[in-house]
Amino acid sequence: MTDLSVRIGSLTLANPVMPASGTFAEGLDKVMDFNRLGAFVTKTITRELRAGNPLPRVVERAGSLINSIGIPSKGVPYFLDHTLPYYAGYKPPLVVSISAPTAEQFAHLATELTRPGIAAIEANISCPNIEEDGKAFAMRAASTETVVRQLRAATSLPLWVKLTPNTGELPEVARAAEGAGADALVVANTILAIAIDLQTFKPCLGNIMGGLSGPAVKPIVLRQVYQCSRAVKIPVIGCGGISTTEDAVEYLLAGATAVQVGTATFVQPAAMIGIIDGLKRFCERRDIPRVSELIGAVLNEEADEPELAWVAPRQ
Ligand SMILES: Cc1cc2nc3c(=O)[nH]c(=O)nc-3n(C[C@H](O)[C@H](O)[C@H](O)COP(=O)(O)O)c2cc1C
Repeated sequence: MTDLSVRIGSLTLANPVMPASGTFAEGLDKVMDFNRLGAFVTKTITRELRAGNPLPRVVERAGSLINSIGIPSKGVPYFLDHTLPYYAGYKPPLVVSISAPTAEQFAHLATELTRPGIAAIEANISCPNIEEDGKAFAMRAASTETVVRQLRAATSLPLWVKLTPNTGELPEVARAAEGAGADALVVANTILAIAIDLQTFKPCLGNIMGGLSGPAVKPIVLRQVYQCSRAVKIPVIGCGGISTTEDAVEYLLAGATAVQVGTATFVQPAAMIGIIDGLKRFCERRDIPRVSELIGAVLNEEADEPELAWVAPRQ
């Protein structure tokens, strides 16, 4: 019996697989048993009602998707009346993703959502900070530190901080979030991208630019998880292009404690369940008793030979 459980700070998850924010919805209960997931992560919510970005909002490219959904939100009252009671019927912990345009409003929202039924807050600080020329909070260490410090003071819930891959100072940003009190980091949101329509010579997306996700981003985000997990002591949750068990194992080896699955769910709605079953099989074939032994187990170049007997699978 392989133990698939992992610990993210004070939370123990039954397994390391959960949805990425914005790519999961209640209707998926028709195609999978929600109780098998490691956790739920909601679509990012904001305090007020928001319409989201102009259409079209999604375009497909090789091995990837570019989306400019923005953050359409039904607001906090809808979340409290509908979404929260819905997830209360299931076992996995509920992680609520939040966003706001200023650090102060982020903190207010975190306080408002610190209530029973919510296991952790995931702060999506990859969104524009209106006090910093619209640059995402997570693009710089200083603005990350400011917003995470305010969030930390505003909630007693475990605080996960979702970073952007669109920064040249990712390890510094990761350390700033840890120093300001984050309990875990989610690495990462989408990569800023553009697509152009050759019939019209216009950008394909109504918002011109959007975020790249899906298999094409995996090697980039995997590298970022590797870097971040070496920069901080808190758990890192990997998110970017995971669609198979092998992708998830690579992330764990690179240092992720858990993984989030996004775009793959659009292609194969029950992908997460296949990954959970696959992780169990991967460990069983190598006599690995606990999936957590894979975390950060990538061998560095100085190692002459694998120290771990289980690197080669049983035939
Ligand atoms: C259609 C769509 C909507 C998304 N909405 C959100 C969101 O509301 N909040 C957020 O933090 N990330 C959002 N994301 C980003 C995903 O959570 C994830 O970080 C990204 O897609 C990379 O993972 P993937 O390659 O597995 O999709 C969205 C992604 C997609 C494709």
